[in-house]
Amino acid sequence: MHYNRRKFISFVGKLSIGAVIAPQFLTSCGNLTTPTKNFKDISKKRLKELSKLTLKGINPSKKDDLLLAKGLNYHSVIKWGDKINAKDTFGFNNDFTCFIPLDDNNPKDGLLWVNHEYVNPLFVSNYNKYNTIAKTKAQVDKEMYNVGGTIVRIKEENGIWNVVQNDAYNRRITAKTPIALNWDFPIKGKTSVIGTNSNCSGGITPWKTFITCEENYDGFWGETKYDEFNKPSHVPSYNQWENHYDYPPEHYGWVVEVNPKDGSAQKHIALGRFAYECCTLFELEDKRVVAYTADDRNDEHLYKFISSKPGSLKEGTLYVANTIKGEWLALDWDNQPLLKSKFKDQTEVLIRAREASKILGATPLNRPEDIEIDPISGNIFITLTNNKPKGDYHGSILKIEEKNNAFDALNFKASTYLVGGEENGFSCPDNLAFDMSGNLWITSDMSGSSMNKAGKPYLSFKNNSLFVIPRLGKDAGKVIRVASAPTDAELTGPWFSPDGKTLFLSVQHPGEQTKDLKNPTSKWPFDKDNIPKPTVVAIKGDLIEKMNRLHQIENFNK
Ligand code: FEO
Ligand code: CA
Ligand code: CA
Repeated sequence: MHYNRRKFISFVGKLSIGAVIAPQFLTSCGNLTTPTKNFKDISKKRLKELSKLTLKGINPSKKDDLLLAKGLNYHSVIKWGDKINAKDTFGFNNDFTCFIPLDDNNPKDGLLWVNHEYVNPLFVSNYNKYNTIAKTKAQVDKEMYNVGGTIVRIKEENGIWNVVQNDAYNRRITAKTPIALNWDFPIKGKTSVIGTNSNCSGGITPWKTFITCEENYDGFWGETKYDEFNKPSHVPSYNQWENHYDYPPEHYGWVVEVNPKDGSAQKHIALGRFAYECCTLFELEDKRVVAYTADDRNDEHLYKFISSKPGSLKEGTLYVANTIKGEWLALDWDNQPLLKSKFKDQTEVLIRAREASKILGATPLNRPEDIEIDPISGNIFITLTNNKPKGDYHGSILKIEEKNNAFDALNFKASTYLVGGEENGFSCPDNLAFDMSGNLWITSDMSGSSMNKAGKPYLSFKNNSLFVIPRLGKDAGKVIRVASAPTDAELTGPWFSPDGKTLFLSVQHPGEQTKDLKNPTSKWPFDKDNIPKPTVVAIKGDLIEKMNRLHQIENFNK
């Protein structure tokens, strides 16, 4: 054997399960490809080739630039403020990206969805948070326009991805777009609500629509808090939007599905309400759907929804994880007396999913962020980014093995796959992506206020970065830094093109610590405006192609 078998096994968890695991619907969208061979079938010749593939990473850096490992290059696809048609512009703080080709036979022409998570008021609405004056309605309106998401048609020509200007598919979804609720009962009197915001990570459905997740909605609309007598009160937001618009917090904190073709959207109430990081779906053989989701707040939980009907994100049961006992606990008002005694119906259980979870004994986790399913082993990987009050500064990656590899199982085994820290060279893991060959890509999210600061535990890691863990070859299992972000930025939303030759990546919040627009902490991407701009880039190059092609499992025995 030419690869480090011990590391490989600890990565994969099982050498073979004898079945194709990767969701078929992801194959044509590029995020994963369906493996047809088990690793044990790899020929000696191929292993020899793999052992020669050297992956030279980069060192940690404080440079205000997007630095890449040898064998990679990038170009900008779209950045904040760019026009997409006569009336609309690209929003702020791009996060999750998802590319769906218009025609499965042409991987170079399709629709790109991009989340716009939040705004930096200094750049977007000229509001300085260091002032004590209240935000005006006009300022809030600008901010509401710059969150949500963007759909743009993009095409690759001569190796460069360009936005098709004024394409009929180009559109914005903002904090003012009407969105239907996929539920039989109104929420705070409404069956359709206004807007989406805090769109962090997301996913793709088996029927090829975009999923975008509402994370820190309380920063814009506040939150309803309940005292010991179950009496509600409003906790005000940080961004003061509710001072100008009377929209209840209960309308936010959901999973939102967007139709790429017409931009119509719906919020899936059955999946529960919390600070949604992501939603990763798997279609079972009988077409029922399993959706793994996570609540990114200290000591919150991991969830999964199992539908009872094919293709439904409404009919089914929401479960929360007890990772100690390895049990999925049903958040089911009808069958849980403990929930019946506290909440008036299932709708209230879903709106107050955090409280319901704790009543049932869900395990508190260290800020669960992104979730991806390993296309080869079928194990589920979840980043636990950190939990500073508990002394976890560097986070870890959790592995879930469902009983009998069944995604609708109600029992599982949880273990730690990898811990952050100096030994492994990364801290605060956030987004995950498996490429076409099952290599794992990880982005980090150390907060801007503590990166590169003396006396903080993040000093040696320097700027946030992108890492890859090769699956095979002599580097198998190593964490290799392949990109370093500009000053204050975080790299988010990694997504592979269907041919595996492009990695779309968001550069979010460069220059976030800026206090004075005339003296920004970053000027990346160095355009004529001389201010930092959140930007989606396309990363290409030999390194990505080699990892996808050389490791491509279908080709191993050819
Ligand atoms: Fe928006 Fe949990 O990252
Ligand atoms: Ca995130
Ligand atoms: Ca994060």
